[in-house]
Amino acid sequence: MSIIKSFNVIFVVIFLFMFREINCNGSPRVIIVGAGAAGIAAATRLVENNITNVKILEARNRIGGRIYSIKFGDAIVDLGAQWCYGENNIVYELAKDYNILENGESMVTLYHSSHEEIDLALVNELYEIFYSIYTEEVEGDEVSLGEYITRRYNETVLAQYGSNKEKLKFAFEFLRYFKKAILTFEGSFSIYDVAARSDFKKCEEKCGMHFKGNGYKRILDIVMKKYPNPEEQLPVEEKIFLNKEVVKIIWDKSEEFDEIPAVQCSDGTIYKADHIIFTPSVGVLKYNYGTLFEPSLPEEKIDAIKDIGIASIFKVYLHFPIRWWPKRNFTDFSFLWVEKDRQLLLQEFLNGPKGHGMSWLLDLTAVHDTPENPNVLEAWFCGEFVPKIEKCSDKTIIDGVMFVLNKFVGFYFDNITRPDSIIRHNWYSDPHFRGSFSFQTVESRKKRISQEIMLSEPILSSSGKQTLLFAGEATHKFLFSTVNGAIETGFREADRIINFYK
Ligand SMILES: Cc1cc2nc3c(=O)[nH]c(=O)nc-3n(C[C@H](O)[C@H](O)[C@H](O)COP(=O)(O)OP(=O)(O)OC[C@H]3O[C@@H](n4cnc5c(N)ncnc54)[C@H](O)[C@@H]3O)c2cc1C
Ligand SMILES: *[C@@H]1O[C@H](CO)[C@@H](O)[C@H](O)[C@H]1NC(C)=O
Ligand SMILES: *[C@@H]1O[C@H](CO)[C@@H](O)[C@H](O)[C@H]1NC(C)=O
Ligand SMILES: *[C@@H]1O[C@H](CO)[C@@H](O)[C@H](O)[C@H]1NC(C)=O
Ligand SMILES: *[C@@H]1O[C@H](CO)[C@@H](O)[C@H](O)[C@H]1NC(C)=O
Repeated sequence: MSIIKSFNVIFVVIFLFMFREINCNGSPRVIIVGAGAAGIAAATRLVENNITNVKILEARNRIGGRIYSIKFGDAIVDLGAQWCYGENNIVYELAKDYNILENGESMVTLYHSSHEEIDLALVNELYEIFYSIYTEEVEGDEVSLGEYITRRYNETVLAQYGSNKEKLKFAFEFLRYFKKAILTFEGSFSIYDVAARSDFKKCEEKCGMHFKGNGYKRILDIVMKKYPNPEEQLPVEEKIFLNKEVVKIIWDKSEEFDEIPAVQCSDGTIYKADHIIFTPSVGVLKYNYGTLFEPSLPEEKIDAIKDIGIASIFKVYLHFPIRWWPKRNFTDFSFLWVEKDRQLLLQEFLNGPKGHGMSWLLDLTAVHDTPENPNVLEAWFCGEFVPKIEKCSDKTIIDGVMFVLNKFVGFYFDNITRPDSIIRHNWYSDPHFRGSFSFQTVESRKKRISQEIMLSEPILSSSGKQTLLFAGEATHKFLFSTVNGAIETGFREADRIINFYK
């Protein structure tokens, strides 16, 4: 008995000694919070560099985070990220050799609420005007995108069509449509929430590359080297622990905790580490920074969390028993409301949220088809009603989409059917996301230094070690809001740790 006991003691001593050694000799323990694009990229980079003592703690029962690919209809649809924005980014770099991406920029087809014939030449002119303003270099940080665009667009169309009342009327209806349409990219509830001047590096061409019905998730398999050859996969998935919601991150000594750094999960488990990489969204940070971090975060970090914007877009996929729309790729229905019909809408369709004299259906920006999924249409909602739309039942959402389709498109198609199923994810109310992707607010621009960089700065414990690091979409200086941005930040923080031990 006593022999066994002392043997145990010796064993424990040796074991501890080994651990120490490992820690000192360049295999630190790293905990990554979140198994989204940033977390998986960070883990992969660490493992490739022989830092293998890594654990990824993921709150949900699946990996991917805001990459959420799921079978629906005949193919996989993306409830989260869907497009690879152009060829000049890491997602394209990773994917380009495998013939899994295809450019499919949809041609916008505008439908008019009063079924007036639309002057396509005029639409093209206005589109050019709007687009050139939208991509202009803006001077000054104090102005919102909404103010900037409205002022510049007004100036331009007044100068161009000044004497033509009809054209001007259409130009202003059109502006309203555009202001809604760009929310798809901006991700905010209003373009007045977004700064006109931005560090974001916009995609210039082939901005609509998609994964051809195989899902964006494939990019994570490529990062982990699980695709194309599963036998070559790096040991990353085995380091992911699902259903592990982190509720406390102890990054420096305090009265309550002296074993640092460490994280605690909602199930009570505690994991110790040398470094913690935090990847959840800035929405999660906004909600939880007060309770999550021990000690609390430095003031500048909290300011960055408050200033960086995040809101949400809402998309639903609708499956139809019969494909009533024509068999051609990229069918798109976009909706141009005239003032009179905007007003009437509140009486014509009563279900669902409304406010400020407006109906939630004005937030339905476009409906378009999905590649490789012949019976599925995708409907996008953008704007301030999104939080309330997320609370609507599937039936209300279907009723609303059908109402708008019938109103605008039913004039040309007499064979529109009702969908038999629907799939969606409520990103804004989901406690592990609290939004879809980040943007720069006017407030954040007023700081004169990038709040994304501020958010990305690692935090040192009192012993001078970088114990708490930040990755994730919103920490990228100029590619925030994107998957490619998120992946780069994961690599960046892994490299920070790798370099620390070099
Ligand atoms: C509807 C929608 C459409 C989009 N479209 C595009 C697009 O077309 N192209 C594009 O490039 N980008 C798009 N994006 C943005 C893109 O999805 C994100 O920028 C990117 O996926 C973010 O990756 P991330 O690793 O930074 O964060 P996340 O993916 O959010 O990963 C963070 C992980 O942390 C987990 N987590 C949260 N809290 C905790 C906790 N307390 N403990 C443990 N784990 C936790 C989350 O569950 C999540 O898995 C879209 C996003 C949405 C929502
Ligand atoms: C990782 O370790 C292996 C085996 O010890 C070695 O061959 C390889 O060069 C190391 N890689 C790096 C990036 O240090
Ligand atoms: C732009 O023109 C419209 C229509 O004339 C007007 O309602 C609006 O106030 C103008 N906005 C600005 C910023 O000039
Ligand atoms: C429905 O009507 C449209 C417009 O007339 C037509 O192009 C399409 O082929 C029809 N679809 C079916 C399934 O009949
Ligand atoms: C639609 O695109 C797919 C590839 O995504 C292609 O195989 C198919 O032929 C296209 N169909 C039409 C009608 O253009």
